Amino acid sequence: MSFPFFMTWSKQKNASSFNITSNETYCFRTPEGKEILDMSSTSYQASFGLKNSEICQAISNQLKEMPVTSPKAIWPNKINTTKKLLIEMNLGEGKIFYTNSGSEAIENALKIARLVKKKNIVLSRRKSYHGATLGAVSITGDWRHDDPSTVDQWSAFIPEPDDDPNCEATEKIILDIGAEKIAAICLETITGNNGVIIPSKGWYNAIRALCIKHNIFLILDEVICGFYRTGKAFGYQHYNIKPDLVCLAKGMTGGHFPLGAVFVNKDISNYFEENVLPCGLTNYAHPIGLAALQAVLELTESGDFQRHQARLNEFFNTELDSFRSLPNVKDVRAKGLLAAIDLNVAPPAWEAWIDAGIYLIRQENRIILAPPLVMPTDLLKKGLDTIKGMLSYE
Ligand SMILES: Cc1ncc(COP(=O)(O)O)c(C=O)c1O
Repeated sequence: MSFPFFMTWSKQKNASSFNITSNETYCFRTPEGKEILDMSSTSYQASFGLKNSEICQAISNQLKEMPVTSPKAIWPNKINTTKKLLIEMNLGEGKIFYTNSGSEAIENALKIARLVKKKNIVLSRRKSYHGATLGAVSITGDWRHDDPSTVDQWSAFIPEPDDDPNCEATEKIILDIGAEKIAAICLETITGNNGVIIPSKGWYNAIRALCIKHNIFLILDEVICGFYRTGKAFGYQHYNIKPDLVCLAKGMTGGHFPLGAVFVNKDISNYFEENVLPCGLTNYAHPIGLAALQAVLELTESGDFQRHQARLNEFFNTELDSFRSLPNVKDVRAKGLLAAIDLNVAPPAWEAWIDAGIYLIRQENRIILAPPLVMPTDLLKKGLDTIKGMLSYE
């Protein structure tokens, strides 16, 4: 079918799509009245369901009160929610720069890191996706890096954590390029869409040590990991490391409003006391986005949420164990409510999953699951049982 708009990341001729009339909290509803269970929080952003009542209420209140304002405007929620976010991130004093997306968060982090360090090259991993804009694509390692308009003269790749556990090869790359030219290393804390790769603590310690030794910033891309996706508020909390910059988006508003952010540490924020911050966006710190973020921060600090997500994490990981013995399954990697199931065969077509009532992320030889953090356990079980049935073919 042909539409008057583009479908993302596909040849338009045969792009996947599905018709809906509305959403329930955990399901898309088709015109035939069928429910399609969201087992990937859509594109990892709908962490609190497709129609979260608290977030919807906060947005609705904000719409009535102040739907639009100036980037220069200060109102209580701009201060209070930002302070709360900084406390939750627990990285010491620092500041937040707001954006409208994860790509823009990466873009601004690259700009800030290059400006402050007065160096241009940024290192990243091949198994990564950092966003669709030119700067973000230039440090992205997956197939999207091949964008012919990439500006990748300022980027270089380091080996995968398992291939360089002590970062010796990474240090050689730094020395070969020249540390005096390298502004930052930018990493998805736990790789999301490129296969849920969970680096070791040792690797992160070695990366952090290299950054300090060679005067390089560590930028962590927490666009997927942030806001409890991997079982802790932020992915870096599994590793006990302090990044200099952190990029956020997606779960930040549960996908109910486009919002992203960059955290920068105190040294970086101090730099801009006396130097112009050459970054800005028309919809900077949008009041509706901040109202949605406030609702997310309130929701995630509640005892109910904390208890439920801890139980759900355990349940999910136990259930996933039973996938390992399926003949078509090669490997299962999971952290919190983010999992990749690698297969020996191609998974059923995306349309077949939709027919079976399941929305998930399907790749060549892999499926990725990221169920909503607030999903009831029995619904998660139902979804996993359907998926298991779909993977159990000869
Ligand atoms: C790890 C990571 N970083 C950045 C982005 C870009 O975010 P956005 O699509 O909001 O621009 C994505 C999007 O999928 C992502 O997964």
